[in-house]
Amino acid sequence: MKFLKQFMLLVLVLLNLQLFGQQPVKPIEITTDKLSMIFTVDKNQRIIYHYFGNKIEGSRQAFLSRGFIGQPDSNDDLAPLAFPAYGGRYYLNPALKVTHADGLLTTDLMYEKHEEVKLDNNKTQTVLYLKDRLYPIYVQLTFTAFAKENVITQSAKVTNKEKGNIKVENIASSYLPLHAESYYLTHFNGTWAHEMQQEEEKLNHGIKVIETKKGVRATQAQNPSFLISLNHPSQEDFGDVYGGSLAWSGNFNLSFELDESYRLNVVTGMNPFASTFTLSTNDFIETPEMIWTFSDKGRGQVSRNFHDWGRKYGMAHGDKVRPTVLNSWEGAYFTFDEKTIKDMIDDAAKFGIEMFVLDDGWFGNTYPRNSDGAGLGDWQTNVKKLPNGLNNLAQYAVDKGLQFGIWIEPEMVNPDSELAKKHPEWVVQSGQREKLTMRNQWVLDLSNPKVQDFVYDIFDQTVKQSPHISYIKWDANRHIDNVGSTYLPKDKQSHFWYEYVRGLYRVYERIRAKYPDIDIQLCSSGGGRMDYGAMKFHNEVWPSDNTNGLDRVFIQYGANLFFPAMATASHVSTSPNHQTQMMMPLKFRFDVAMSGRLGMELQPKDIVGDEYDFAQHAIQDYKKIRPTVQLGDLYRMVSPYNGTNWAAHMYVAKDKKEAVLFAYSLAYHGRTTYFEEKLKGLNPDKNYKVVEINKKPGSRTFDNDGEVFTGEYLMKVGLRLNIGDAFASSVLMISEQ
Ligand code: GLA
Repeated sequence: MKFLKQFMLLVLVLLNLQLFGQQPVKPIEITTDKLSMIFTVDKNQRIIYHYFGNKIEGSRQAFLSRGFIGQPDSNDDLAPLAFPAYGGRYYLNPALKVTHADGLLTTDLMYEKHEEVKLDNNKTQTVLYLKDRLYPIYVQLTFTAFAKENVITQSAKVTNKEKGNIKVENIASSYLPLHAESYYLTHFNGTWAHEMQQEEEKLNHGIKVIETKKGVRATQAQNPSFLISLNHPSQEDFGDVYGGSLAWSGNFNLSFELDESYRLNVVTGMNPFASTFTLSTNDFIETPEMIWTFSDKGRGQVSRNFHDWGRKYGMAHGDKVRPTVLNSWEGAYFTFDEKTIKDMIDDAAKFGIEMFVLDDGWFGNTYPRNSDGAGLGDWQTNVKKLPNGLNNLAQYAVDKGLQFGIWIEPEMVNPDSELAKKHPEWVVQSGQREKLTMRNQWVLDLSNPKVQDFVYDIFDQTVKQSPHISYIKWDANRHIDNVGSTYLPKDKQSHFWYEYVRGLYRVYERIRAKYPDIDIQLCSSGGGRMDYGAMKFHNEVWPSDNTNGLDRVFIQYGANLFFPAMATASHVSTSPNHQTQMMMPLKFRFDVAMSGRLGMELQPKDIVGDEYDFAQHAIQDYKKIRPTVQLGDLYRMVSPYNGTNWAAHMYVAKDKKEAVLFAYSLAYHGRTTYFEEKLKGLNPDKNYKVVEINKKPGSRTFDNDGEVFTGEYLMKVGLRLNIGDAFASSVLMISEQ
């Protein structure tokens, strides 16, 4: 009986296919626990991008038919393709543009086959194989679906089997067509000490492009992560929101083209600008991965998907809580000797800090690194400042119960350095034109394998100086201009942007193969390299050189839309703040820093009296909430952008037994206004004790401190906090009873 039913179904399907001339290719479905991405193959063997959104659970018959049954031929051509190449009737910004060996400008991709492989219980890889209808150009689209995290990554590969060279003028990682009444794009802009500033705008007809051409420090001014909300500005807990993030640390281009059929065409990938790639016969080029997620429950769930995915797949050791850090930079800058550092280590130990990081200024002898004007490139310990070497310091830290870390910036060189004199050809340069400095430095040409070896060796040699070095802060303090390479041949100069990043990743890969367990911080003048391409090899990012509490509320809000709290290093610094000159209470500075990976970046001797006790307690309290902050789910309650001058969010442990709430006042509020918010993410059926931590001596912000409430009450009625003053703040620990 069952067999008969199946047979009848098959006959029906085949009949249907025959009637409409369709090839018997079933819809290609890429699914996670909650999402479906669906492609179909039309009668012309084109792969149609059918759907990406909430999972389709019902009948598949509808998918076979939609897009061609009952539609005139011309409509077929309007169906969005999986990977639109320039050619045929496609006139929008293409995902692929190739000039063939014979000079032909157009490409017409057709379906060849597809393969699906279950990589493990959570990951499924689907590869779509396409080929040009007339020319031996092969395209592979690789999708990896992460079931539990509801993330799908996509990348593309083009292989040339033509008899001569082809030119790849544009190859995106992904194309996504959307159709709705309106589209709202949330994207991020910035500058030094002001990264990840959110902007949301309604997209109108034409093309909105977010891009960089800077090569290095690529995410300082724009970030390759974004949200698209359908039909209304994105909301925290409802509405259709797509989240995208390109895993690439170089030039990127995200284009959002609203076309005449009111479709939004989203093309994301490396920036094709000045990057034509010549492929000889049998050669190929592969794109970085585009990371996609979606939720019909707003941007909150989109962030949680990114965080779950990031901790498991997008960064190093995302399952282990991070140590608290004292970094020497703002406390000592370039001016220190062994005693300065040992005193800082002593003080860090008294505060209960777990890692000491020696920042810039420890190296260079012929050209000592006493400012940012010299020494970069000469990675030998400065014998005047540190006569007993790094191992002596690292050993000292370990004896005091701390781990030890060190700063490097191996991609760069000061003109005043032995390295620049020895290898001027390693510097990125545009022929005979002037080599322009920025922060008194040049960039080394990582497209050159010898430079890759050098950069790898710097890491290796630095770590080898002591068995106690367990953390590296990797910096990159300028972008690329006046581009050019002495290594790449003259007809391949336009490969530079691609080869630089590939070179960097090759170095990262070698480092991680040898040092899988070392902690590495990703820094590029602060958040200049905040992307999942680099993050994969790192434990955390330094989101900004701006350590001012108020500014950090905004910067961390932006960064934590895509990266989990454990990945955002957040350090308490001194007041007035060195970057902004603003004064902030120590409590506010701690309350902001404790919402990420807590650290300090100051001279600990400057914290005295009551503030000393406060800081010591805050560090202890952080260790109590750390697993929830670093490994829990983020629920945002009040956005700092909403105009109320309050900001609040919570972290809730996966088992919902612990939660922590952070609330900040960003300005003075009138006497009669008050902060009251409903909590999120708790178990309504459980009782929770709510305890305020990090209290200023003799004051509190929560009148019901220590009382027990049901989860339902907290989520339906909410809590009131006395945080009306400018830079008042509150941290509540919420524990199941
Ligand atoms: C960059 C980093 C800082 C610090 C300095 C050192 O600006 O972002 O944190 O390491 O370099 O020169």
